Order: sequence, then C-alpha cells, then structure tokens
Amino acid sequence: MKHISYTPDANRYTTMQYRQCGKSGLKLPVVSLGLWHNFGFNDNFLTGRQVIHAAFDAGITHFDLANNYGPPYGSAEENFGRILKLDLLPFRDELIISTKAGYDMWPGPYGDGGSRKYLIASCEQSLKRMGLDYVDIFYSHRFDPNTPLEETMGALDYLVRSGKALYAGISNYNPEQTQKASAILENLGTPCLIHQNKYSMLVRTPEEGLLTVLEQKQIGSIVFSPLAQGLLTDRYLKGIPQGSRAAGQSIFLSEQNITPELMDKVQKLNQLAQRRQQTLAQMALAWLLRHKTVTSVLIGASSVEQLKVNIKTIDNLNFTDAELSEIETILK
Ligand SMILES: NC(=O)c1ccc[n+]([C@@H]2O[C@H](COP(=O)([O-])OP(=O)(O)OC[C@H]3O[C@@H](n4cnc5c(N)ncnc54)[C@H](OP(=O)(O)O)[C@@H]3O)[C@@H](O)[C@H]2O)c1
Repeated sequence: MKHISYTPDANRYTTMQYRQCGKSGLKLPVVSLGLWHNFGFNDNFLTGRQVIHAAFDAGITHFDLANNYGPPYGSAEENFGRILKLDLLPFRDELIISTKAGYDMWPGPYGDGGSRKYLIASCEQSLKRMGLDYVDIFYSHRFDPNTPLEETMGALDYLVRSGKALYAGISNYNPEQTQKASAILENLGTPCLIHQNKYSMLVRTPEEGLLTVLEQKQIGSIVFSPLAQGLLTDRYLKGIPQGSRAAGQSIFLSEQNITPELMDKVQKLNQLAQRRQQTLAQMALAWLLRHKTVTSVLIGASSVEQLKVNIKTIDNLNFTDAELSEIETILK
C-alpha cells in the first residue's frame, strides 16, 4: 500500500453545518458519508481512504456502515477499521460511527431479520471488524414481521445499556412501525435517536406520513440515497460512463434505470440547478435539507471530487417558491 500519512485539516469545523438530531443532544453534520458502495474489498482502498480523509477534513464527522456492506459482506467495515487504525483512531471522540443489522448476513436462521440473537451477535462482529469498543449508533436495519417488535427493540436497548452502542436507531420502518418502535424504546428508557430512510426527488415515500411521525416524536432523520444513487447528478447526462454504478458496478442500479423519460426530467432539473448556480447534485441535496426534520443527507461518493462538490451544497440551501413549484412540475 502506498504510504501516506494523514493530518486532519485544522480548520475542519469552520464551514460544515451541524443539526441537532431530533430531541437528543447529538449534532450531526448536514452531509454524512455512507460506505455501502466504494469501500469493499473489490474497490480501490487508497481512493476510499482519500475520500474519508477529505470528508473528515471538511467537518464530516459521521460515517455510516452496515454489517453486510462490501462486497463481500463485512469488507466495508474491515476496510473502515483499517482506515481508523491508520489515520483516525486518535480522533475517535470526534466521530459518529454507525452500523446496522437486519438484512442477510450469514447462513442459517440467525444471520438475518430482527431477533435478539442476530442483532447482538452482529454488533459484536461489527465491532471486531472495525476494531472498536463501541459504535455511536446501532440500527435495526429493517422491520422484521417474524420477530416481536419488543424483542428487536429490547436488543437495541441492551446494546446501548451494555455500552456497545451509544444510541439506538431504526431504518426502513414505515410510519406505523416507527410509532410502535419509538414507544417501546421510550418505555425501555432508550429513546429512538434517529430514523434512516430513503428519500430523494425521485423517491418521496417519507412524505406519506413518515416525516410527520418523526417530527411529532422528535426523532432525527438521516436520508439515504439522496442522489438516487447518482441519477440526480450529472453522472448520466451524456450516457453511462465506465466505472459508474449503473455500468455494472452494483446490482442495485442498472442501465434499465436510465430511461429516456427519467433523463428528460434530469436534464430539466439540471438546467434549473445551473440557473441557481449549483450543480444538480447540490440542488438535489439542498432540496432535502430545506426540511427542518431532515437532520442529515447520507451520501455516497466514489471520488474525492464528487465528495467536494456535494459538500458545497451548504453554500445555498434556500429555494424560492417559484423554484420549488418548478421542481414539482418537472417531477410530475
Ligand atoms: N438503511 C438502508 O437500508 C440503506 C440503503 C442504501 C444506502 N444506505 C446508506 O446511504 C448511503 C448513501 O447511499 P447511496 O450511495 O445510494 O447515495 P447517493 O448519494 O444517492 O449515491 C451515491 C453515488 O452517486 C454518485 N455521485 C455522488 N456524488 C456525485 C457527484 N457530485 N457527481 C456525480 N455523481 C455523484 C456516485 O456514483 P458512482 O459510483 O457511479 O460514481 C456515488 O457512488 C450508503 O452508503 C449507506 O450508508 C442505507
């Protein structure tokens, strides 16, 4: 591995904005970085490491993982553990590191779902892979209809009480499940810190009740795939570039997703972004951050350049009513 030594930028806290996560005392940067793609053993370790450095240098304190990020499963946590050891462990108290369990991870009946057995064993494994004593946030990655919610929330409460996690979160829970989960956690004395949900100009499900529940319960909200995996950027404006997620880098986005109808909307959004003197990615992120309920946008990045562009979103988070209604017209 090429030898690089890392000293964080001394001015890293001067420009990033932080928002209070729900009613908790925890602040999160408005832009957080996720390691779902681009950080597995199949990816370039040095690029990933440089992206993490650039993020921390810009005041991004929050890094989001899950047990099965890679591929292969577990490899994003292992690589992140290496980066922590090489560069960031001296700054552990400046970092918010999250991980999750809920989707397929290991064979047999205990490596998937929401059982106490799975969540606790998985958290232990994640800590080992990352070389950590604790994570800051541990999530139930999805609601499991085959496990009593009391059991899943009980496992989160146990992880917090045992010091393996500082806060509990839930992800992909619908409004009703969120209400129930939050009531159980409240009773246990471990409030639900945060909800992680998919939200972008192209996926607006949280507007159908979830944002209202989060606001009422004062639960923080971190939104994932805010750029619709790259569709809401200039990445696909001139075709499908080599090395992009849609060009076969991932099973989660494919050429079939890049339809002429979609690209027509994206072109129009891009023109509006240019009039606002922003890139499309910046406008897509700002559009989410205009909601006070959205604590942070959880982006992915395959290069330092992408990350830097996305961070500059904070230079303009305001929209006129005319711009908002133009966006609605384009998206219709
Ligand atoms: N809780 C859950 O169930 C769940 C599910 C999914 C994701 N997540 C979390 O959310 C995080 C982000 O998800 P995501 O990666 O789908 O987010 P995203 O920000 O919507 O998409 C990231 C991708 O968009 C492209 N991109 C980003 N910035 C760009 C720019 N400025 N210009 C051009 N292209 C740009 C890159 O694609 P290329 O790779 O093509 O360059 C990048 O890999 C994940 O890492 C994970 O932490 C959680």
